Amino acid sequence: MKQKIDQLLDESQRFQASTMDELEQFRVKMLGKKGELNDLFEAFKTVANEEKREIGQKLNILKTAIQDKIDEIKNALEITEDNSENTDLTRPVNDFVLGSRHPITLVRKEILEVFSRMGYVVSEGPEIEDDWHNFTALNFPPEHPARDMQDTFFVEKNGENDIALRTHTSSVQVRVMETQKPPIRAVFPGRVYRNEAISARAHCFFHQVEGLYIDKNVSFADLRETLLNFAKELFGEETKIRLRPSYFPFTEPSAEMDISCNLCGGKGCTFCKHSGWVEILGCGMIDPNVLKNCGIDSAVYSGFAFGLGIERITNLKFTVKDLRLFSENDLRFLEQFKSSGF
Ligand code: PHE
Repeated sequence: MKQKIDQLLDESQRFQASTMDELEQFRVKMLGKKGELNDLFEAFKTVANEEKREIGQKLNILKTAIQDKIDEIKNALEITEDNSENTDLTRPVNDFVLGSRHPITLVRKEILEVFSRMGYVVSEGPEIEDDWHNFTALNFPPEHPARDMQDTFFVEKNGENDIALRTHTSSVQVRVMETQKPPIRAVFPGRVYRNEAISARAHCFFHQVEGLYIDKNVSFADLRETLLNFAKELFGEETKIRLRPSYFPFTEPSAEMDISCNLCGGKGCTFCKHSGWVEILGCGMIDPNVLKNCGIDSAVYSGFAFGLGIERITNLKFTVKDLRLFSENDLRFLEQFKSSGF
């Protein structure tokens, strides 16, 4: 009997099956009602008492080995069947979840593209700025209210050497004029900071794109044509612009530009406060003092600059009414821009 058990153990260890049918035949032969194991257990009854313990153990080992073998082959066969016979290889793959670009990023890219088509290059400057680049070189008098604690986030406040978060991207103008020779044609995108109470219409940080063009004989008419072209490229051929006289310490003359409200087509709506116009940027001819501060000869060169708020343009393009949405990272808001760009 011991010999028979060893022989069956050997046989089941070497057993292989490539189909479920073969495996089932093996199971019936070994563990079925009329199978080998039942015969052995039947014969076990007649085993002499002194041998019962040893043969009983052997029988149990054999039984477990057969069951393990069956389970092992069954698992392997199920996996291969899953992969080959039951899987439909023409099924589409699971959806690939793509994120979306932030609306400010999308609009920033669009603005920069319009200006690069007009021959402008892109530069950037630091967000932490010194007093010279943010104010003094730009002709801000020492007592100008913009320097006040109410508007500026100071990092270090020690008189002439104040360090602050830049309040506008005009600081990059200064850096570029100081280091490059005209002709200069460049745009500077970036984040700016102002110490304002956060509401639907104001935030303590936002984004601007600054533009600068310096060459011989640059006139206000060049500025107007450039901005008109920009407005049409961004909002459509039918867009109109309007320049209103304004004041900035670093430009003379200065203007603010409105575009015809693209939400109501100029008829008047709540967004444009029923005026048909929306202000989108500040601009002007660079003040000769600023050119001088930056080492450019104002008798030879003239130029213009403009600064626009990306949030404002994004509001117009996507009808976003609350500025706070841009910085809250609410997926329900952000996911709406999935199809708005690459
Ligand atoms: N720096 C101005 C602002 O932040 C905008 C501006 C830029 C105006 C360039 C004129 C020329 O409001």
